[in-house]
Amino acid sequence: MTEALTPRPEHKFTFGLWTVGNPGRDPFGREVRPPLDPCESVRRLAELGAYGVNLHDDDLVPPGSSVAERDAIVARFQEALDESGLVVPMATTNLFGDPVFRDGAFTANDPRVRRYAVAKTLDAIDLGVELGATVYVMWGGREGVEAEAAIDVAAALDRYAEAVNLCCAHARAQGYDLRFALEPKPNEPRGDLLLPTVGHALAFIDELEWPDMVGLNPEFAHETMSGLSFTHAVAQALWHDKLFHIDLNAQRIGKYDQDFRFGSEGIRDAFYTVKLLEDAGWDGCRHFDAHAYRTEDADGVWDFARGCMRTYLILADKARRFAAHPEIAEALAAAQVAALAEPTWSDTSPEGLAALRAEAAGYDVAALAAAGHGHERLDQLVTELLLGAR
Ligand code: GCO
Ligand code: MN
Ligand code: MN
Repeated sequence: MTEALTPRPEHKFTFGLWTVGNPGRDPFGREVRPPLDPCESVRRLAELGAYGVNLHDDDLVPPGSSVAERDAIVARFQEALDESGLVVPMATTNLFGDPVFRDGAFTANDPRVRRYAVAKTLDAIDLGVELGATVYVMWGGREGVEAEAAIDVAAALDRYAEAVNLCCAHARAQGYDLRFALEPKPNEPRGDLLLPTVGHALAFIDELEWPDMVGLNPEFAHETMSGLSFTHAVAQALWHDKLFHIDLNAQRIGKYDQDFRFGSEGIRDAFYTVKLLEDAGWDGCRHFDAHAYRTEDADGVWDFARGCMRTYLILADKARRFAAHPEIAEALAAAQVAALAEPTWSDTSPEGLAALRAEAAGYDVAALAAAGHGHERLDQLVTELLLGAR
């Protein structure tokens, strides 16, 4: 492995305890891998060059633990972090595993379930902040419905916003340096989930009490499940200054939530996402929310983790080659890509708009319409770059 393709902490690669610790259970089959000690995950990830590890409350502290047990677990985990140099940049709550959340958590019809969900989240926020997290992800895995008659969507959105506001209020009251990142998903495990896409979540944030504290955690698999462009979703989140976190993995359109190793499917889409993040100089963590195939044993899990990071670095290298490639530069110029940065018209006064119309009236529209844009050549050059032919 060359130096440039060796993961290092400054690349800011992170994994969830639940990702490398995924035991390979699926709806049809039980676990195929034994449970992984979180401290062992920390050591192995540090050896592989990762920057950090993220967690749900329950990934680290088994539900039902006493305060003394919790504190002992956290102290032991902190020790493993200190020894390895790994950090915990993000934390989240498991609001989907416990049967109490079968009808939702923040948006359950029963107010007692909603209060329990908020209380569990406040505890998990305290845990995350104690470990150093500055981003808190909210994935509403049970916030949805199968029987449409059983949900009032407007009321559910009111309750969703209320719960996010309560969590923000807690972070403010405690003086935490913490931002919240909503993670959209169209379906699974519910028939339909609330906040199904990045666009829905962005609009939802505007209705919150402290919109500045809340942003997005888009996931490659989730936008792709909807048939949408993940790269465009990330680009728009960046445009709104709302890309607080990112979940990288791989997914084919039309399938269940696959959460495959980054780049294992949709390599072009993965390339454009990496290029976008690198070109933007985005300084957030490159988090892999994925897991090893069920075929794998313990060694396969570390092959999986290594593969996610290595593919990211290969694609980042391709992005640099893209920027330096003379023929690609020529094709980009032919496609006028840079010209889109030029404002269309700056004078919004009635006189200015009249001048715009006068200018447009002078154009040879037939000539404009006849022009080709050279996208075939450009696209093929990218394909050849990715295939290693350039
Ligand atoms: C999924 C989600 C989850 C969340 C995780 C953090 O589809 O299972 O992507 O993996 O990202 O629970 O909130
Ligand atoms: Mn997912
Ligand atoms: Mn995710």
